[in-house]
Amino acid sequence: METVDNLLERWSGRRLTITAADNVGAADADIVVIATPWDGATQTAVSVEDKLQGKVVVSMANALTKLGKEFQPLVPPRGSVAASVQAAVPQCLVAAALHHVPAKELGDLNAPIESDVLICSDHTSALEATSQIVAKIPNMRPLDAGELAMATPIESFTAVLLQLNMHYKTRVAVKLTGIPDGDDSRPAGGRAAERDGGNGSGAADASAATGPARAQADTQT
Ligand SMILES: NC(=O)c1ccc[n+]([C@@H]2O[C@H](COP(=O)([O-])OP(=O)(O)OC[C@H]3O[C@@H](n4cnc5c(N)ncnc54)[C@H](OP(=O)(O)O)[C@@H]3O)[C@@H](O)[C@H]2O)c1
Repeated sequence: METVDNLLERWSGRRLTITAADNVGAADADIVVIATPWDGATQTAVSVEDKLQGKVVVSMANALTKLGKEFQPLVPPRGSVAASVQAAVPQCLVAAALHHVPAKELGDLNAPIESDVLICSDHTSALEATSQIVAKIPNMRPLDAGELAMATPIESFTAVLLQLNMHYKTRVAVKLTGIPDGDDSRPAGGRAAERDGGNGSGAADASAATGPARAQADTQT
């Protein structure tokens, strides 16, 4: 509640349609973002399992620890947080995304951060719905990074980015060269269209997602 009040006050000049909710309320959304620390992600998903059936669930948690001055990736069961969530709630459609986007910069609506967003999923509908959300955020480009197995290196790579942040005293984002904008092998078609994790029936509507994508990321489900 306090977080939402602060956001509405900070961005009072914009018509943000965000409301506060507990995890059960947040899980009523068409698309649910799990933005808890990594060790709470699976448990949180399971706690609202009945609400996640057939829905797109975006996992953005990174399993990391800090040893001395070094960030180190941890390997959760099944290789990634996202795969753990998918295994724990098999009837939802997990997409792993947004791991490398610094929250503070993402939250500054006046200075949109420029970043590519690597998205991976075993479900075409989840990949597409997540890509549509990302594409609505100014300066962000969704990239189809493959199947959910790719969540392992994607999550681990966050340790490298945090290390760079420390070393260069900055907040880095990921921007890849060599992929032309509008490449139709991106999520709306090409290889992604052939992917099917076996439960593609729960396509969620991402049409109202620009605001809610951020709002849901700020809730704890
Ligand atoms: N911060 C970033 O820049 C960034 C960028 C990309 C990805 N991520 C990933 O996004 C996730 C959230 O990051 P964050 O910086 O927002 O973390 P955070 O502030 O530590 O945690 C977010 C919220 O999760 C809830 N929470 C804490 N422990 C929990 C648990 N064991 N089970 C369920 N909920 C719990 C807390 O809500 P309550 O206080 O209400 O319990 C907290 O407000 C992390 O996995 C991180 O790796 C972060």
